[in-house]
Amino acid sequence: MARRDAGRVEVLPTTDALMEAAAAEFVRAAGEAIRGSGRFAVALSGGSTPKTLYALLASASYAGLVDWSRVVVFWGDERCVPPGNPASNYRMVRESLLAHVPVPEANVHRIRGEADPMEAAAAYERQLRQAFATPDGPPRRAPGARFDLVLLGLGNDGHTASLFPGTAPVHETARWAMAHHVAALSMWRITLTPVVINAAAQVTFVVSGHEKAAILRRVIAGPYRPDALPAQAIAPLDGRLRWLVDAAAAKELNAP
Ligand code: 6PG
Repeated sequence: MARRDAGRVEVLPTTDALMEAAAAEFVRAAGEAIRGSGRFAVALSGGSTPKTLYALLASASYAGLVDWSRVVVFWGDERCVPPGNPASNYRMVRESLLAHVPVPEANVHRIRGEADPMEAAAAYERQLRQAFATPDGPPRRAPGARFDLVLLGLGNDGHTASLFPGTAPVHETARWAMAHHVAALSMWRITLTPVVINAAAQVTFVVSGHEKAAILRRVIAGPYRPDALPAQAIAPLDGRLRWLVDAAAAKELNAP
């Protein structure tokens, strides 16, 4: 099967430049969404790369450029741990960003990593459907009814969000959020599925570092095998796909 569209790749010379470009992208997407629908619905990525981005957004140079009162925050995925656990994606975003900018608490939709995973995934899907005024059926691709921006990272094994190689959520066609036990990590994860990610107005991957170079090349330029490389399953149906990558991560992209 052919890949729909691998998206636009932008290579930034350094990690700092990558973070600045990602922060500028966030500010631009927020402004556009707030002008269009009165709010900015964003799904944030976890892991270690985006911590610097969130801290930058919370810094004096960027914090004043976003109307945080109109930002609605979701997560792309969560590790099934309590919110205070150092591995919690909620905790990372709370500490690096939400503790420093005035996002109303009612706009913060965390995934309950401490609860039963299946129940937490179902509850998260209900929150999403309520926020997007879509009680059932597929996501609607209308302003205010879908994510304005989904930020994603890329794992060394080709995973993104908690869509891991060879797992069911990669192929899901109905549910918006799912819980699954990731054998490779011996851990339960809750993730958005491609159903809702691919309905977004914009999806942006932020990828940094030499250790991502080989997998980035396979995901972007290799054969379409989303079961093995779940990041390839991300292809917005009616939205933009952008890859912001630093030179270290991009170093194999133009190799023969
Ligand atoms: C998570 C993520 C995950 C992450 C990638 C890349 O909870 O771990 O959301 O999909 O984005 O694993 O992570 P790094 O940026 O830490 O390499």
